[in-house]
Amino acid sequence: MAVIPGLSALSNMEDFPNIALALLKLSLTLIPLYLIGLPVYNIYFHPLANYPGPKSMAATRLPYIRMILGGRFPQRIKALHQQYGDVVRIAPDELSFIDGAAWKPIYGTRVGHGQKPKDHRFYAPTPGEAPSIIVSNDADHSRFRRLLSHAFSESSLRSQESIIKGYIDLLMQRLHENIDGGINTVDMVAWYNFTTFDIIGDLAFGEPFDCLKNSEYHQWVSIIFSSLKYGAYANVSRRLPGSKYILPYITPRHVLSQRSAHLALTKEKVQRRIGRSNERPDFFGNILKHQNTEKGFSIPEMITNGSTLIIAGSETTATVLSGVTYLLLRNPRVLAKLQDEIRSAFTKEEEITLESCNKLEYCLAVLTEALRVYPPVAVGLPRIVDAQGDMIAGNWIPGGTVVSVSHLAASHSPANFADAEQFIPERHLDNHRFADDSKTAMQPFSFGPRNCIGRNLAYVEMRIILARMVFNFDMELDQPEKDWMDHECFVLWNKPKLMIKLKPRVHSKRS
Ligand code: HEM
Repeated sequence: MAVIPGLSALSNMEDFPNIALALLKLSLTLIPLYLIGLPVYNIYFHPLANYPGPKSMAATRLPYIRMILGGRFPQRIKALHQQYGDVVRIAPDELSFIDGAAWKPIYGTRVGHGQKPKDHRFYAPTPGEAPSIIVSNDADHSRFRRLLSHAFSESSLRSQESIIKGYIDLLMQRLHENIDGGINTVDMVAWYNFTTFDIIGDLAFGEPFDCLKNSEYHQWVSIIFSSLKYGAYANVSRRLPGSKYILPYITPRHVLSQRSAHLALTKEKVQRRIGRSNERPDFFGNILKHQNTEKGFSIPEMITNGSTLIIAGSETTATVLSGVTYLLLRNPRVLAKLQDEIRSAFTKEEEITLESCNKLEYCLAVLTEALRVYPPVAVGLPRIVDAQGDMIAGNWIPGGTVVSVSHLAASHSPANFADAEQFIPERHLDNHRFADDSKTAMQPFSFGPRNCIGRNLAYVEMRIILARMVFNFDMELDQPEKDWMDHECFVLWNKPKLMIKLKPRVHSKRS
């Protein structure tokens, strides 16, 4: 019998309520099955089922999301390692490690494995139209790194010393003006930030942000702090389907407008830097020499990377300086020993240079210990295991698993360090009491081809600034009863003010 199309459609229409009802019933059965079945599968049958950790974290990613948004992610991961051991399952497909042997397979390059890619749901996209060195693919990364590494060489550091010294001179001048020969209480978090942002601003763009000159944060700098929490929301939303479309709607309007202002200002700064000399010994000198060549940076790449260099290079260094100041003032024995080293090594402030600071062994041990106790990048930076799987610190890890070493948890683990919660610089000076410390477990500058390019520069700044602070001032905590280190962390530490009573050192011979 011939089927008359119109009539058949009509009969289908009549069936519609039945079909819709059947579909509804099916979904009402399948959705709960899925919602119950998936966590059950994740806990008992997933390839990571045998790894220790809370069942709730193995079941779904919700507890991970709560930890990220709660602003205490590294502290929670540290507590989980103390409870469950060296490897912890922190989400259905994610493991956290603290064993020093995990750095190489996760972050290094090995024959047959290459580099493990970064988990881009974790990394915020940098503002601008080109990828930054941090989130670039391997080919772009090698091109960026090759041209940038020139600015971070030993000889470039020596040429940059006078630029760096100028800002440290200004920091000392401003602090002395603030206390005016007496005692005054100052927020050292702000002063260290002013200094490191001005230094990196000058090294990146050839001009400071004038934070020290004006004794206040520049608008470009304040956006970083005001968007710390937003980064956590972005991390979470990138795990949802269609996040590209969702993110602009959930981002607070002030963050969006600050981001465009930041980008516009960065463009202006790069344009002005291009107009200056290629011979300047800063980050852009070598890049500009290769402009318009195949291996050079495009203008959008200069803009994004200019912004990244500032953020990566200033906040981190200021965090260590704030942390080390607090730790020294909480540990009078260590402070006295450091004062003794610095005050007996120098009679005049001008003697404190890059070269002379290299000889201050205890000062270096103090800074290294501060990096252990208070690592500026405290969270684990996630990488993805290649499809064929891999061995990590003696464990077989299936392909696709997200893996990281948590900086704070590894540095504070009693399995890695004796008296792990104590601030003891001697552990970095071959003291036999710490002979069993697993020094390789702490890698505050990360490891492998994507480790920190600015490590040596950071040490130069930190050593000279710390030496000059101790040479110039006697310091005391304004609120000694307060645990300053107990604060939030949204990838970067959300540092509260660090109020310090500063007093010019008696007999200080300032030039
Ligand atoms: C104490 C201070 C510092 C610490 C603890 C630190 C830490 C780190 C860490 C952990 C990474 C790895 C990021 C990742 O894997 O995603 C990194 C990368 C990076 N850091 Fe630093 N950093 C510091 C200072 C600096 C300074 C002074 C600069 C200079 C501008 C700088 C520039 C960079 C850059 C450009 C990268 C990306 C390197 C790449 O992907 O090849 N950092 N840093």
